[in-house]
Amino acid sequence: MDIETLHLGPFKIKNKIAIRLFSALDDRLGVKEIVDDEVFEKIVPAHLGFWSCFGGISFFLFISQALTGMLLMVYYQPTIEEAHATVAMIMNEVPFGWLVRGSHSWGSNLMLVTIMIHMVKIYVSGIYKPPRELNWVVGVTLLLLTMGLSFTGYLLPWTQLAYWATVVGTETPAALPYVGEYIRYAMRGGEEIGQVTLTRFFAIHVMLLPVITASVIGLHLVQIRRQGIAGPM
Ligand code: HEM
Repeated sequence: MDIETLHLGPFKIKNKIAIRLFSALDDRLGVKEIVDDEVFEKIVPAHLGFWSCFGGISFFLFISQALTGMLLMVYYQPTIEEAHATVAMIMNEVPFGWLVRGSHSWGSNLMLVTIMIHMVKIYVSGIYKPPRELNWVVGVTLLLLTMGLSFTGYLLPWTQLAYWATVVGTETPAALPYVGEYIRYAMRGGEEIGQVTLTRFFAIHVMLLPVITASVIGLHLVQIRRQGIAGPM
């Protein structure tokens, strides 16, 4: 690409270094065609309105949760001696710690609300019907994963409320016939809630579920791209 100005959608880039870097990528991977086709020339259907924003808002909140969660991990210690104290420190001593923690805990509530609104919109407008029924199933998986993230994250501050909520949350599946007792034991990592439970919930909350959720969101978005946004009702 030997040009003075690089045109990317509505943007005109004149910086020589940026043009040379972009050209190097474009020569090897054909990036310009992908960016033009997938981003700038993708037409958003005119019928999409306010209620169509909630999938995107849920996605934005997921990214925000991942970023604020990484910042919280800088100070948080997942031990029953230190968990509560480190959360108190984040709130009272770390600069803007209150903002990061507040965004993370409010974000988790908000994300469930926006997913519910997104789901109700898809249901009411009948978008779950063929050929999008598989994406509905992927969506339900995302709802369950997000609930799993909220449940495991709730224990981490190790407060009375967190402890007793986890007692209830781990006691409930124990009512299932045959497998209930095993599920409770596996969730708690023993008979009682303690250090093993906290370690287990921490690992599931910061590694396992975020990685699975990010992959399933990818699958959700690929399906939307393959099938296109549904037409008006
Ligand atoms: C982490 C949770 C989720 C994220 C980040 C997410 C994200 C998105 C985005 C960005 C879109 C495209 C724009 C739109 O139509 O809103 C979309 C569409 C869709 N979502 Fe979700 N979603 C989530 C959960 C769900 C749930 C719980 C369901 C249903 C059970 C669902 C079912 C669908 C379907 C069927 C479409 C296709 C809409 C169409 O083709 O017009 N999603 N989602």
